[in-house]
Amino acid sequence: MFPCALNGAVRHWMKHCTLTRAFSAARPRLVLGIETSCDETGAAVMDETGVIWGESLHSQKQTHLDAGGIIPTVAQRLHRENISRVVQEALDRSGIEPGELAAVATTVKPGLALSLGIGLDFSLKFVRHHEKPFIPIHHMEAHALTVRMLHPVDFPFLVLLVSGGHSLLALAKEIDEFLLLGQTQDEAAGDTLDKIARRLSLRNHPECSNLSGGQAIELLAQRGNRLAFHFKSPMGQIYDCNFSFAGLRNQVTLAIGKKEREEGVEKGQLLSCVKDIAAASQHTLASHIAKRTHRAILFCKSKGLLPQHNPALVVSGGVASNEYIRRTLKIVTDATGLHLLCPPSKFCTDNGVMIAWNGIERLKQGKGIISHTEEVIYEPKAPLGLDITSEVKDAAIKVPPLRLRINS
Ligand code: KG4
Ligand code: ZN
Repeated sequence: MFPCALNGAVRHWMKHCTLTRAFSAARPRLVLGIETSCDETGAAVMDETGVIWGESLHSQKQTHLDAGGIIPTVAQRLHRENISRVVQEALDRSGIEPGELAAVATTVKPGLALSLGIGLDFSLKFVRHHEKPFIPIHHMEAHALTVRMLHPVDFPFLVLLVSGGHSLLALAKEIDEFLLLGQTQDEAAGDTLDKIARRLSLRNHPECSNLSGGQAIELLAQRGNRLAFHFKSPMGQIYDCNFSFAGLRNQVTLAIGKKEREEGVEKGQLLSCVKDIAAASQHTLASHIAKRTHRAILFCKSKGLLPQHNPALVVSGGVASNEYIRRTLKIVTDATGLHLLCPPSKFCTDNGVMIAWNGIERLKQGKGIISHTEEVIYEPKAPLGLDITSEVKDAAIKVPPLRLRINS
């Protein structure tokens, strides 16, 4: 595992803050961040130096695992039932009153309409009641910027976001300025892993019942032989930076059906070769992501879009917690001279902290801070930045082969 050094550091800072709070007259400004775009109800209070004062997270993961997928009305109900408690917990843990906040930042796009609506409704009532400025947040912008709370990463940098809802490559030029280099043409990487895990009935595996699909596949793949199955890497003849995962899922589903017939396995039962299928699926997915990322690096270099000094690839989103994928990407960044930066898993998945941090970034630069909230709406679909995917495709950069051999 990558070390989660931040936990200790945050605790230390929080303690430091508690001690200094009483003595310091000019206290750093505080932002409350609220996240409800998908299946996590999150809230956090953070100050402008990046110190987390208090946070709370209610995950709906187990409910959705039990149901076999996210049902938007269920997600909405759970957000509605938990949001005020989660926000109150974050405030209580930070030891502050709402009046002490400089602003409230909330995810308003993209995401599930019914989930976004709960967070926005709650936030608008909150800011109106306490007369606070409001900072609407783009969920993917928040994933991209989280790393800056932990490392001093300067713009521009390349960012790969891979989660249950999104897969994209972008160049971050500023906190609110992105060039979109590629995105998924069908489903997101995490969605594919979740569907493969469901098709393999991994919920019935004793070690996987509480794990998300991606986590279950990563765990089993560690003990599987990826060479036992061969899945073709998607879009091999298309020289752009878009992703496609549905075809891989199809190949895996066919292989599972074949094995089930061979082994006489009924629906819901586990195949003897689940670990091998997990390992081969994970490898193909990782190498597809790595090849598209490699091309994005070469494209940015050819156009002079990355800095000469310390160019970086930032990886975030739930799928970025995957060690195998991180190690595959490390081969690419080592070969191209980039630094690979991945926030600890806790900050790769959805949470209130990343929204609070995005609010801080915007507050510090005075960008997108709203005092009149009458016209704020949520947007289920919202592209990130300026779409230059067709320019990337026209460049048709051929990626030199890399040995993506990783020991599990
Ligand atoms: O970012 P996230 O928490 O929520 C979305 O915005 O989607 O990502 C959740 C996704 C799920 O599809 C889950 O299966 C995947 O991230 N995931 C992983 C791992 N942990 C979570 N995928 C691969 N390996 C993991 N270790
Ligand atoms: Zn997310």
